[in-house]
Amino acid sequence: MPKAVIIYLSTSGNTKKMADAIAEGARSRNVDAEIMNFHEARIEDIRAADAIAIGSSTFYYKMLPPMEKFIESLEKANVADKVGAAFGSYGWSGEAPVMIAEKMRALGMKVIDPVLRIQYEPAEKDLEECKRLGKDIAAKVKKTAEKPKSGKPEDAGVREVKMGEGGH
Ligand SMILES: Cc1cc2nc3c(=O)[nH]c(=O)nc-3n(C[C@H](O)[C@H](O)[C@H](O)COP(=O)(O)O)c2cc1C
Repeated sequence: MPKAVIIYLSTSGNTKKMADAIAEGARSRNVDAEIMNFHEARIEDIRAADAIAIGSSTFYYKMLPPMEKFIESLEKANVADKVGAAFGSYGWSGEAPVMIAEKMRALGMKVIDPVLRIQYEPAEKDLEECKRLGKDIAAKVKKTAEKPKSGKPEDAGVREVKMGEGGH
């Protein structure tokens, strides 16, 4: 079964509620999803995962420095080519999930676009969106697993044009 880890930083529980619903959505599509506070996340859990979702609320127009350090430390976990997703609760500006996605992309991860942001405490309809993200993570992991590891780059959305074709 594919594995996903859902890692969060949440000061009053809002982003944690999002993490729980994302995990529920992924599990409903047969992905083994584990939720963890970023303090508890171990490098082995991250290495073993096919997908990593990271959530943080926004403080002073960014994510809190310990979360920033944690994401930078993921380089050691060989996360390139894993599926990534960023999420978080916010109040008025919501920069943290966007910054998380940027950092994930810099590490070579395949990040789901757009990021998921919910203002303050997620309502029932917001939790449905979180579950949808969990399902999208499951779909992307399965699609990535099906792709041939070697061979022609046809799955990369590259159309080959031979010499003399359509070059006018
Ligand atoms: C001291 C403080 C600073 C904050 N700064 C921001 C901010 O710059 N931008 C923003 O969108 N929300 C800001 N917020 C709002 C939080 O992101 C929001 O309350 C969020 O729901 C907290 O989620 P959590 O329980 O997962 O930590 C701030 C909240 C506090 C208490």
